Amino acid sequence: MGQREAEGKITNVAGAAIVTGASSGIGLEIAKTLCQLGYEVYGFGRDFSNIRQPLEELPKERFHVVRCELTDTGKLCEQVKSIASEKEVRVLVNNAGAAYYGLHEELNPKKIQEMVRTNLEVPMILTQQLLRDLKKHTGCIINIASVTANQSNPHGCAYGATKAGLASFSRSLFDEARKYGVRVAVIYPDMTKTELYRNADFTVGEEAESYLLPQEVAQAVEFVLSQRDGLVVSEIALRPQLHRIKRKEREEKRQ
Ligand SMILES: NC(=O)c1ccc[n+]([C@@H]2O[C@H](COP(=O)([O-])OP(=O)(O)OC[C@H]3O[C@@H](n4cnc5c(N)ncnc54)[C@H](OP(=O)(O)O)[C@@H]3O)[C@@H](O)[C@H]2O)c1
Repeated sequence: MGQREAEGKITNVAGAAIVTGASSGIGLEIAKTLCQLGYEVYGFGRDFSNIRQPLEELPKERFHVVRCELTDTGKLCEQVKSIASEKEVRVLVNNAGAAYYGLHEELNPKKIQEMVRTNLEVPMILTQQLLRDLKKHTGCIINIASVTANQSNPHGCAYGATKAGLASFSRSLFDEARKYGVRVAVIYPDMTKTELYRNADFTVGEEAESYLLPQEVAQAVEFVLSQRDGLVVSEIALRPQLHRIKRKEREEKRQ
């Protein structure tokens, strides 16, 4: 860990971390965890209105909000380059995701594009933009895929395909980048209690044994980062004990 001056105080800083989708759910918990670990976190998202700052877990000097439509590639690259020109980026967490479920014929091109771009294209572009810096600083890339990457997903064919693509990208990138000291990991969470199911006619089950908490996915990120030099935890699957979902009432779906 290095040290730097911040507002007159010396604080330990582990380097900079970029987290996409840091405005809610899993990404927000990952951002809090990385702040606790001493990273200066740049959290990308569009709507941070649910985060009431200052938050103890997201101290002002450690957490920087980056309002960004990730699919606006020009702006995304500009913002990332500007951060990397000033800070030592050591961690990239590709977490932002979009999900639409249902029969494939019931999706539309816009929803399909949003999933492919957010879940797959954006991680590839961010990785490409940052890989030289991550090599320089022997950094780490953590991709938040899904258990859907490794299974058949009727009613989620396109979403599952984007996650399978992200997992494939991660595994190949691990082999490409390992000799440069870059660690690449992919995490496969099962159903997690977040807002991801806002567009679905189901959500996580009611029993605590039927879902993960976003904090538990963040703990997996911490586990990846806390390994000694030379040891890479390249894949982690997280599953609740029970496989249960809850069908939404009509009213819940409309909200
Ligand atoms: N929840 C689950 O059951 C589950 C299971 C497996 C994997 N995952 C994966 O975990 C990741 C996080 O999802 P979550 O469950 O935490 O859901 P979430 O609460 O809906 O979070 C999604 C995040 O992605 C951001 N985002 C989406 N599209 C964006 C865009 N175009 N530009 C900028 N930001 C964008 C959202 O930001 P704004 O709201 O600010 O737009 C939000 O912060 C996703 O990749 C998801 O596929 C979730």
